[in-house]
This record gives sequence, C-alpha cells and structure tokens, in this order.
Amino acid sequence: MSCCPLVLELTATAAGWLPVALANLDAVLSDHVHCERKAAQSALSLIRQYPQRADIVAAATRLAHEETSHVVQVSAALNQRGQALAYDQGDDYARELRQQVRKEEPGRLLDTLLVFALIEARSAERLGLLAQALADQPSLAAIYAALTNAEYRHRDTFLTLAADTAPRAVAQARLDELVAVEGELIRRLPARPRIH
Ligand SMILES: [Fe+2]
Ligand SMILES: [Fe+2]
Repeated sequence: MSCCPLVLELTATAAGWLPVALANLDAVLSDHVHCERKAAQSALSLIRQYPQRADIVAAATRLAHEETSHVVQVSAALNQRGQALAYDQGDDYARELRQQVRKEEPGRLLDTLLVFALIEARSAERLGLLAQALADQPSLAAIYAALTNAEYRHRDTFLTLAADTAPRAVAQARLDELVAVEGELIRRLPARPRIH
C-alpha cells in the first residue's frame, strides 16, 4: 500500500450548471442511474482485464457491488417521482476522458485508474452541489449527500490503486496532466441536465 494519497484538485463546476440541473431533475436522475450502471460495469471490466492484481480485484468487486446499490437507490428516487428511466443519452465527458488512456501497459492501467478517479471526483462534486441545493426536498437531498460521500471514497480507492501501480512521482505527474485535460473538457461542455 502506498503511504499517502495522490493529490487531486478539480476545477470547480461553473455556476451555470446547477440551475439547469435543478430545472430538469428527472433528466438528471435518469442520467445518474446510467452513470451508476456504467460505474458498476467499469469496475467489473477491471476484474476481467487485471485478474492478477489481487488489490484491484478486491476493490473493484466491492465497488461494483456498491455502484449497483446506487443504481437501486437512484432508480427508486426516480420511481417515487412517477418517472420512468430514460434511455442513456451517451456520455461524451467520459468518452473523451477515456480517450486519454494510453494503449500500452503499464501506462494503460495507470491512466485507467486515474480517469476513473477523476470521474468519481467530478460526480462527487456535482452530487454535493445538488445535495446542498435541495433543502426543500430532504429525502432526495439525503440520497445525494450519501452518494457524494460514497463517490469521494471511490475517488480515493482509485487514487490508492494508482499510487500502487506506478512510482508516486510518475502517478502524480500523470494525474496532474489529466486534471488539466478534465478541467478544459468540463469548461468546454455545455451546461446540461446530466451529472457530467
Ligand atoms: Fe456510485
Ligand atoms: Fe462511484
């Protein structure tokens, strides 16, 4: 195990996103269900790709389980609002970030773990914004607050795995590059009723 986590500081979400999200909460909830589903699927795919890394298998197994429980929670919140789940609109944010992953090992694994950490961190930041803004809907705010904490924990899980995958200075330098790419991307994407 590495001694201490890598340092990840995101660009803050622009002020324009939250009003759009709050005005279209059903769309945000549908998108969120799909984000949690894809997080579970991504965790499971790590087990397929890196079976020799016992730490990854253990962490990704727990993660897939937890992300699936988030699918259950967010789907239930959507149901309570009388809304059916919409089709996945795709996720250009995650797709563009994943294009940063190098094709060859060992860079491929390091980049994959760092990109997953970034997606968890951005999700946590935005779920936190929703939790704070929904004081008038306490049950939904409570779900967002709980998921904010969970996604920050997942960020740290991926940062720990990344720190155990490459020398610390190498992992931190690559993370800094990817943080800059993510910041540029999140500024470029339009404000829309999605988690990313
Ligand atoms: Fe989640
Ligand atoms: Fe997560």
